[in-house]
Amino acid sequence: MTGYSIATIPGDGIGQEVIPVGQRAAEAAAAKHGFTLSWTEFDWSCQRYAETGQMMPDDGVDQVRNHDAIYLGAVGWPGVPDHVSLWGLLIPLRRQLNLWANVRPVRLLKGVQSPLAGRTPEEIDFIVVRENVEGEYSEIGGRLYHGTDQEMAIQEAVFTRRGTDRIMEYAFQIASERKASGYRGHVTSATKSNGIMHSMPFWDERFEVMATRHPEIATSKYHIDILTAHFVLHPDWFDVVVGSNLFGDILSDLGPAVAGSIGIAPAANINPDRTAPSMFEPVHGSAPDIAGKGIANPVAAVWTAAMMLEHLGEVEAAKTLERAIEVSLESPVTRTRDLGGTADTAPCAQSIIAAIGQ
Ligand code: NAI
Ligand code: MG
Repeated sequence: MTGYSIATIPGDGIGQEVIPVGQRAAEAAAAKHGFTLSWTEFDWSCQRYAETGQMMPDDGVDQVRNHDAIYLGAVGWPGVPDHVSLWGLLIPLRRQLNLWANVRPVRLLKGVQSPLAGRTPEEIDFIVVRENVEGEYSEIGGRLYHGTDQEMAIQEAVFTRRGTDRIMEYAFQIASERKASGYRGHVTSATKSNGIMHSMPFWDERFEVMATRHPEIATSKYHIDILTAHFVLHPDWFDVVVGSNLFGDILSDLGPAVAGSIGIAPAANINPDRTAPSMFEPVHGSAPDIAGKGIANPVAAVWTAAMMLEHLGEVEAAKTLERAIEVSLESPVTRTRDLGGTADTAPCAQSIIAAIGQ
């Protein structure tokens, strides 16, 4: 029987509550489809930072490198600055494992009410593809004159042709695959070439080059400011949206909000060259405001597990999980509070697991 080894990093807050649900759901799908999963858990988190001064050990990246995939909850907790938790764990993993594509599907599921009046599942169904290892999130820069009235901060963004071309090519590939299964075949580029005068005109130039390589795919581009408005006003315009690290980050929180709740939004940090394991994590964070109460929505974690199984080649098992989510969401009794329901994490999880068995 095929088996996969998964490194799990539940992390902080609700990460600890939703990752076990995703594991149970993935196990149930694996049993149904005839493969096995073995899990190795790592306690890397802000709690570990408080105890040891490190989010993960020095050789952390190497400890997870020889697994088939990484399944992560969320990291971040009050008391540890967010840039410490992010740069101490998530960003090193993304960069050293070359997880250069961040893929975030946005789909209005049946049974979920969009905050946009009258929108139907057919109208909100797109994918945000975010550049994940360069762009605006860079260590280049510095601060001078701390604490004086001349205090200053400089932060450089990095856009390479290699990094830009490959993320755009990846977005076009996804659009082609989707077109083959009935979608429109359209890529939207998020830009800001009016205000940002070096990197974003470069981004636009590369987008034009990549578009000419894919004549079968239609394209459009919008400055990020109006694009955020279009996400709200015209979510039906979008099929695949490609953006830089910062713009993709923003759009991939806005997208799920439009599709109902960040509590259902999945994400994958992909190494498309498959030279290292890819990492799968819900879009949401550790949610300190609801952590420990047993009320977090586990759907994002389960949908994220589905993306992981799909990446591992277990496409039918992934579909089983997605269907189970949809079945569970149809009943208001098993919807969590962020979706207007009354259920706690446990009954929601139970209904998903039960639906996998059906
Ligand atoms: P957040 O996603 O943790 O929470 C935002 C809001 O959404 C909160 O009101 C929360 O209760 C709600 N929410 C999120 N997930 C939910 C779920 N599954 N079910 C029900 N409600 C849910 O974002 P926030 O508050 O900005 O960040 C909290 C911490 O998480 C910070 O330390 C931040 O750095 C970290 N974070 C970590 C991420 C990661 O590890 N990938 C991603 C985003 C934030
Ligand atoms: Mg974000």
